[in-house]
Amino acid sequence: MHSVGQIFATILAISATLVSAKPRHDDSITFGPTIYASGKQDIIKFVTTTYPGAIPSNQKGNGLFLWPGLTNSTGDLIQSVVGSYPPGASECSGANVNTEWCISSEVYGLDASGNTNQFVGQLTTLDATPSNGLKITYTLTDPSAYTWTQVVTDAVTGKEMATYTKNSGPMTIFEASVECQDCSPTIADQTYVNTTITFAEADKTWSSVPEAESGATFTTPTTSDGGVTWTIAKITFPAES
Ligand SMILES: *[C@@H]1O[C@H](CO)[C@@H](O)[C@H](O)[C@H]1NC(C)=O
Ligand SMILES: *[C@@H]1O[C@H](CO)[C@@H](O)[C@H](O)[C@H]1NC(C)=O
Repeated sequence: MHSVGQIFATILAISATLVSAKPRHDDSITFGPTIYASGKQDIIKFVTTTYPGAIPSNQKGNGLFLWPGLTNSTGDLIQSVVGSYPPGASECSGANVNTEWCISSEVYGLDASGNTNQFVGQLTTLDATPSNGLKITYTLTDPSAYTWTQVVTDAVTGKEMATYTKNSGPMTIFEASVECQDCSPTIADQTYVNTTITFAEADKTWSSVPEAESGATFTTPTTSDGGVTWTIAKITFPAES
């Protein structure tokens, strides 16, 4: 019999295989059932605004990746990523790739042949000040095919920064992570404001077992419509250095 903590550790270990086996640490927080559970409702929409803060200079290792993710614990991980890459290694292109966050919409998961892949959509460096915030929206655009569309916009100007659409599976779990792959860690608090999660039908107990790791703090999830829509006013990952 696994404890909830062990199951979360397993989920985190699965998502931890993301890109590399380099020494790493992750701060993360997870809401939702620990495994896909029948009777739980599917998420149909996810909206948050993130404030990543200043980017660390002289990034090292394989980089630093800040992301809110949706998963069902066995399939695709939907993740729009605010990334800091070592010099010359950014997924983004352009003059400022070594000094600005790279915003990308990605899916870590399976291709049509069942092979694991990191799918990467549109990419943009964050020219505007990070204090504008980034609005991140994941929408189940075609429920019959479990098509998910990710869109990231500048929260002040509305400029589109990243988007990606892929058929995935039903989603029941929200996890946010500060993923450090032998990196230069965060130098500013990272926050998620007004995170809003909408379900196909009411899921009254969805938020019952949030698990914070490594010091992430959060306000208690609330619902004002009996469990169809859940809101987390603020999640904070304190600066790591
Ligand atoms: C989770 O999603 C994957 C696709 O990403 C899907 O193949 C799988 O069936 C889903 N799991 C459950 C339990 O529905
Ligand atoms: C919070 O997000 C929801 C969903 O996007 C939106 O309808 C609502 O207006 C937002 N509230 C605030 C205070 O921004």
